[in-house]
Amino acid sequence: MKKIAVLAGDGIGPEVMAEAVKVLKAVQKKFAVELSFTAADVGGCAIDRHGEALPASTLALCEGSDAILFGSVGGPKWEDLPPAQQPERAALLPLRKHFDLFCNLRPAKVFKSLTAACPLRSDIVGEGFDILCVRELTSDIYFGQPKGRDGTGLEERAYDTMLYTRFEIQRIARMAFEAARLRRKIVTSVDKANVLTTMVLWREVVIEVAQEYPDVRLNHIYVDNATMQLVRDPHQFDVLLCGNMFGDIISDEAAMLTGSMGLLASASINKDRFGLYEPAGGSAPDIAGQGIANPIAQILSAAMMLRYSFGWDEAAAAIDRAVETTLEKGTCTADIAVDPSRAVGTAAMGDAIVAAL
Ligand code: NAD
Ligand code: IPM
Ligand code: MN
Repeated sequence: MKKIAVLAGDGIGPEVMAEAVKVLKAVQKKFAVELSFTAADVGGCAIDRHGEALPASTLALCEGSDAILFGSVGGPKWEDLPPAQQPERAALLPLRKHFDLFCNLRPAKVFKSLTAACPLRSDIVGEGFDILCVRELTSDIYFGQPKGRDGTGLEERAYDTMLYTRFEIQRIARMAFEAARLRRKIVTSVDKANVLTTMVLWREVVIEVAQEYPDVRLNHIYVDNATMQLVRDPHQFDVLLCGNMFGDIISDEAAMLTGSMGLLASASINKDRFGLYEPAGGSAPDIAGQGIANPIAQILSAAMMLRYSFGWDEAAAAIDRAVETTLEKGTCTADIAVDPSRAVGTAAMGDAIVAAL
C-alpha cells in the first residue's frame, strides 16, 4: 500500500487533480496495486481556511506519506499579502526545501499527434523532439542568503544572492548524466559562466562530474543562447542541465514548444527518491473554474510518481500510453485543439484517458 498526500491547491489545481486521482484509481484496478489518497489544504486555500499556506497538519501528512501529488498554488487573491506569506514562497518552496527535493525532472516531448499545436514552424518541429530538463531545485538565487530589502528613498535596495556549493552542483549534475545514459547520451549544461562567478564554479564542477561518464557527451551553452536555440532547433538537445532560476525559465519555454503549458509534468525528488509530483505550470487564474484546463500535465506527473517513487514502471508506462492514444484519437482540450470548437473539457479528457487505459 502506497500512501499519497494529495495537495490540490488553488486555481485549476483541484480541477486537474480530480482527473489524476481518477486515473490512479483506474490504475489500481488494472494493476492490482494499492494506493491510499489523503487530501490536505495547501497554498491560498490553506491561508483562507487555516491562516497559513503550509499548515503543520499538511506537512505532517506529507511526512507520513510515500509521495506528494501536488496541484498548483497562488493567484491574484493572495498577491497583495506580504511576500513571505504568499502561497508560492510560504508553501511550495518550503516543501521543496524541507524534503531536500533537489532534483526536478521536466520532460518536454512533442506527441506525434500534436505537432500542429507546437508553435514552431512545421519544418522546425519535424517529427517532434524529446528533451529532459534536469533543474536544480533547492538552491541558487531562490534560496541563497543574504536576501533582503533595506535603505530608504533612492538608496532603497533589494537583493537576492545567487549561490551554489560544489556539493549541490555535483549531485544535480550526476542526476543529469545518469538520465542521459538512458537516453541519447548528450548533456547540455546551461550557464552564464561568461558573467556570473557562481556559474564559473557550475561549469568547472559539471566538467569534473563528466569525467565519471565518458560515454555521455557534454556541451555547454549560455542561457541566452539556449533560449534562442530551443526555438531554432530543439532537436539538438537531449538532457538540459540547469540551475534553479534558469531551469524555471527554460522549462516553461520547453513546455510551450510541446504545445501547451498544460502538458508539462514534473517530478521533484530527493536522494531517497521521495518526491513531490506537480505540473510545471501554475494555477492558471485566467481559465480557473471553467472546467477547461488540460489535466495531462497532472496525470503525467502521477505517472512519474509511480515510476520514480514507487518503481511501478509498467503502470507508469500504461498511463503514458493511454495519454498518447487519447491524443491520437483527436481528443483535445482547448489549449491544444487545432479546432477549438471540438475541444473537450477537463473531466471529459480525464474520462477519455481512463477509457484508453
Ligand atoms: P501559469 O502556468 O498558471 O499560466 C500561464 C499560462 O498557461 C496561462 O495562460 C494558463 O491558462 C496556461 N496554462 C497553465 N496550465 C494550463 C493547463 N493545465 N491547461 C491549459 N492552460 C494552462 O502561470 P502564471 O499565470 O504566471 O501564474 C499563475 C499563478 O500560479 C501565480 O500565482 C504563480 O506564482 C503560480 N504558479 C504556481 C506554480 C506551482 O504551484 N507549481 C507554478 C507556476 C506558477
Ligand atoms: C515552478 C514555479 C515555481 C518556481 C514558483 C511558483 C515558486 O514557477 O515550479 O516552475 O519558480 O519554481
Ligand atoms: Mn516556473
